[in-house]
Amino acid sequence: MTTTKERILEALKAVQDPDLHQDIVSLGFIKNLAYCDGLAKFELELTTPACPVKDLLKEQARQAALTVEEVETVNIEMTAQVRHALPTGNQLGGDVRQVIAVTSGKGGVGKSTCAVNLAAALASTGAKVGILDADVYGPNVPVMMGIDRKPEGRGKKIFPVAAYGIKTMSVGYLIEDGQPVMWRGPMLHRALEQFLHDVEWGELDYLIVDMPPGTGDAQLSLSQLVPLTGMVVVTMPQEVSQTDVRRAIGMAQQVKAPVLGVIENMSGEIFGEGGGETIAKTFDIPFLGRIPLDSAVRVGGDGGKPIVIEDPSSPVAQAFLEIAQAVAAQASTKAQASLPVLEV
Ligand SMILES: Nc1ncnc2c1ncn2[C@@H]1O[C@H](COP(=O)(O)OP(=O)(O)OP(=O)(O)O)[C@@H](O)[C@H]1O
Ligand SMILES: [Mg+2]
Repeated sequence: MTTTKERILEALKAVQDPDLHQDIVSLGFIKNLAYCDGLAKFELELTTPACPVKDLLKEQARQAALTVEEVETVNIEMTAQVRHALPTGNQLGGDVRQVIAVTSGKGGVGKSTCAVNLAAALASTGAKVGILDADVYGPNVPVMMGIDRKPEGRGKKIFPVAAYGIKTMSVGYLIEDGQPVMWRGPMLHRALEQFLHDVEWGELDYLIVDMPPGTGDAQLSLSQLVPLTGMVVVTMPQEVSQTDVRRAIGMAQQVKAPVLGVIENMSGEIFGEGGGETIAKTFDIPFLGRIPLDSAVRVGGDGGKPIVIEDPSSPVAQAFLEIAQAVAAQASTKAQASLPVLEV
């Protein structure tokens, strides 16, 4: 005789995670299953609070549990546990689970804009998020996040400055106002290494890294210093960005960082639409979505309040949220691929 709990678990095996291509029981997503007098209760623990199919999975799990004869009511609590997915031996201070770099082949395509809005979108789902502004040439994150304070230090440690519930650290905090950044080569490498080592992030699900534009030495050196779960490539719709994207992907391959996908930014009448999708197909990487060209995005950036926070129900903010979910799903997939699967 099998118990009702065993039969519920068996029934739940019919539900597949569409990204991880495995059933939610084998994946270890079902926690604290209890059954009593017609009521089945359990936790459904996903690998990210930003799961794009959260509601669907919940409903499918409910339906699956109801197929067990004596079950009349199902009570599901949705939780999430972002997996640790950093290369071993990483030097980041604190407990950081995943690091996602926002890159591009060339400047001005909206990396910083995407970085802060993706961070805000992930945070809105309940994730603990930080932003590392690694743009040594033109650090923009403090302005885009409306921060004019400097980080506090204690002993050898530096503590991130928080805004809108997001922890931020910028190379911009280290330079005096108006001073150009003149770091080059080995000096830059050493300064960044020290910097990355000394920042105390605390607990983070996602650390979003705003990379400097281009694919030169500084970028390469950074991608080697920062332990990456994956890279997101931002491009504009025009065909010309193809060469740049190719270079960005080449860099990712060189540092062995998985490419999580492409974002097409400033999509619409002026620059066209569809270039990002073509690029994704050409390079066989996921297309994460497009962000329209919209002056509210620029106003939010200049004003220190990202559009996702300023106007979360706007279509642009919704587009950022969907892309953030796609990024989180891709990162989860990469993380899962490097973990042993639980047998239940
Ligand atoms: N979708 C959008 N709609 C309107 N304006 C945008 C959009 N995305 C970015 N911008 C604006 O374009 C400009 C460049 O964006 P951003 O600074 O994010 O690019 P970047 O790739 O980080 O640049 P850099 O290479 O200099 O670091 C900014 O003024 C920003 O507000
Ligand atoms: Mg930038």
